[in-house]
Formats: sequence, structure tokens, C-alpha cells
Amino acid sequence: MRALCATAARVAAGDAKVFISGESGVGKDLIAQYIHARSSRAGRPFVAVNCAAFPDTLLETELFGHARGSFTGAYRDKPGRFELAHHGTIFLDEVGEMSLQMQATLLRFLENGEIQRVGATGPRVQVDVRVISATNRDLAERVASGQFRKDLMYRIKVVHLHIPPLREHREDIRVLVERAIARTGRPIRLTPEALTALERYSWPGNVRELQNVVEQAAWMSESDEVSLKELPEQIRSPIAGLLRKHERRRQLADDLYVALVDGHYTFWDHMHPLFLRRDMTRQDLRQLMRRGLSATRGNYRALLKLFGMPDSDYKRFMNFLAAHDCAVDFHPFRFEAVPSRTAAAAASAPSLPFDEVPGTLERQASTRRSGPAA
Ligand SMILES: Nc1ncnc2c1ncn2[C@@H]1O[C@H](COP(=O)(O)OP(=O)(O)OP(=O)(O)O)[C@@H](O)[C@H]1O
Ligand SMILES: [Mg+2]
Repeated sequence: MRALCATAARVAAGDAKVFISGESGVGKDLIAQYIHARSSRAGRPFVAVNCAAFPDTLLETELFGHARGSFTGAYRDKPGRFELAHHGTIFLDEVGEMSLQMQATLLRFLENGEIQRVGATGPRVQVDVRVISATNRDLAERVASGQFRKDLMYRIKVVHLHIPPLREHREDIRVLVERAIARTGRPIRLTPEALTALERYSWPGNVRELQNVVEQAAWMSESDEVSLKELPEQIRSPIAGLLRKHERRRQLADDLYVALVDGHYTFWDHMHPLFLRRDMTRQDLRQLMRRGLSATRGNYRALLKLFGMPDSDYKRFMNFLAAHDCAVDFHPFRFEAVPSRTAAAAASAPSLPFDEVPGTLERQASTRRSGPAA
């Protein structure tokens, strides 16, 4: 996170177009505002447009404005968002949702910086805006499927900032929790068990979900201390949730596998007790082994690492499997290939900086937003 904020601060100094990607709730809006607030355009407007919130024709008039009489109901001339953002920054949120026709119009604007209000006849006017765009879609995939123009992708993606999901930078969870508590204005604190549960949870809704959970706990808690039992069930006991959810065992093994590979659980801390309590059957355990061996091409030592065990546990682990008749033959997996936990971690994007982003960022972003919430 720190590295990402540092990059964002560096990028802010220039005028390059920035493209921000990342799952919903990771902080794309926040980073866009941060870049604007740190740029030489900070005193000028920051105008955000949620491209997914308008049908095509409306998006065009939103962005470019319209002339009086250009369509029924256009009683007055109306400037578009590009004009309103003159000398400032325009934030095109959900840019991946734009229709191909709008993409062509946007591309034309990006090439010459000129606009003409819809229905206007006069000369085109030049506007000076910095363009930041964002999406939670896989833009490359949309290009591959013909839904997004490649030339436009290159235009908007001069600098690409990818914000990783929260589950990939768990080390920031504590500081985010503190910030979220500060926002509530209540003097609460979380017990160590509650904090550990927050650190283990997978946060599909990312920072936004974390803020909601902390806020809810702050207001629901009867004392100043929030304990584990006051957290939502999916956080308190993700495994219990999984167990209840899955009658089909194969699916349970798959979910447990994902939790292990995520770095969310370790074999001895989580799978072992489940197995001893018989919440997980031999069949589940064998299925888990098969998934692990498939990922490591039949390598048991690599599987240890994948499942969060040190190398020195090799014997203990093999003995455990043998004792419970769960050792799976590795031979059939020798020629398969899927990334390991280490490879997956190495491939993940850099994490985003933290001390800068939260409080300060929100204060610095003395920005102007207009239109539907992005
Ligand atoms: N690093 C951070 N520090 C503090 N708060 C954060 C951070 N990142 C995100 N948030 C908060 O999380 C919430 C969601 O962030 P934001 O709206 O920027 O996400 P987003 O990526 O734009 O999501 P979406 O794709 O759904 O639009 C906001 O309330 C924001 O203030
Ligand atoms: Mg957003």
C-alpha cells in the first residue's frame, strides 16, 4: 500500500492519464482524489462521472453538454462535465462499461482535447483536463472480447495503478480498523481475538466492507470493547459458515483449499482440528490433497508450503496422512501445472501505501464531485 501511495504521489506531480484498476471497495475513488489533491490542479475542480450510471445518449450530453433545443426538454445550454472540469481533473469511473459508440467519441476527445456540446453548431472549444479513469472490470479481457477499444485502452492507461484486494495486504488491516474506528467518533477498541478474526477474514467487499463492519460493531456494542461474538458470523467463524453452507463435500474441500492457498488458514491450525472434530471427513481430506498435489505437480514438499506448513513438518504431515489413510498417490499429478502459493503471491500486484492514504488523503481531497455517486 505504501509503495502504491508513493507511486500515486509521484504520478500526481505530472499530467499523465492514469488508469486505476481493482475490485470494488479497494479505494479507487480515494486514489483518484488523492492524485488530484496532490497535483498542480488541486485548486481546480475534481469532477467525477460514473459512466455506468447513464444510458449512452445521456452520457454523451453529461460529458459534452448540450445546446438549447438540441432535444426535447433541452431548454437551456448546459455545459458538460469536461467543461466543468476545465483546468482540473475528470474522473471517469466504471469506464469499462462505456458503449463502443461512446468509446469512439471519448477517443476523439482525448486525441484533440476539443469538445462541442451536443446539438451546438459553433466552433469546437478546447478544454484542459487531466483524465483519470477506473474500473473494477478486467479491461484487457473486455478488449479481447471486443467490448472495449484497444486504442482507447492505450490512451487512458498511460500510468496504470492496480489496487490489490484487501486479502492480499492483510498487514494493513489493523491500521484500517483504527482509521475506521476514528471515523465513528466512538472510543471503542477491539479485543485481540476480534482483531485476529478481522485479519483472517477474506474481505470480499474490501475496505468498504471493513468500514461497514467496524461501524456496525461500534454502534451495536454495549461497551467500549468489541469482542469476537459481536462481529458478523462470516467473520467470527468462516469455517462454521462454510460447513453449514456445504452439504456437498467436494465443494467444501474446494473452499477449504482456497482458504489455505489464500494464506487465510494453515493446515495445522485449521484443517487438523476440523478433521479431528469430524467436521471434515477422510474423503474431504483426500480431495484437499488431490487439489494440493494437482497444484504442485505431485510434489508433497511444495504442498506443505502451499498449505502453510514449514519444511520441517514433512514427516509429521506424512505420518498424519498415513495414520488416517489419506495419503494420495502423487504419480498421476506429476505432469499437471497450476501456480503455487508462492508463485501466486509473487504475481500479485504491489500493495498500496497506508499512512498517507487514509486520514490525510480524505482531508487533502478538497475536491468537487458532481453527478451521481461514482
Ligand atoms: N486506503 C484507505 N484508507 C482509508 N479508507 C479507505 C482506503 N481505501 C478505501 N477506503 C474507503 O473505502 C471505501 C471504498 O473506497 P472507494 O469508494 O474509493 O472504492 P472503489 O474502489 O472506488 O469502489 P467501487 O469499485 O465500488 O467504486 C470508501 O469509504 C473509502 O474512503
Ligand atoms: Mg468507485
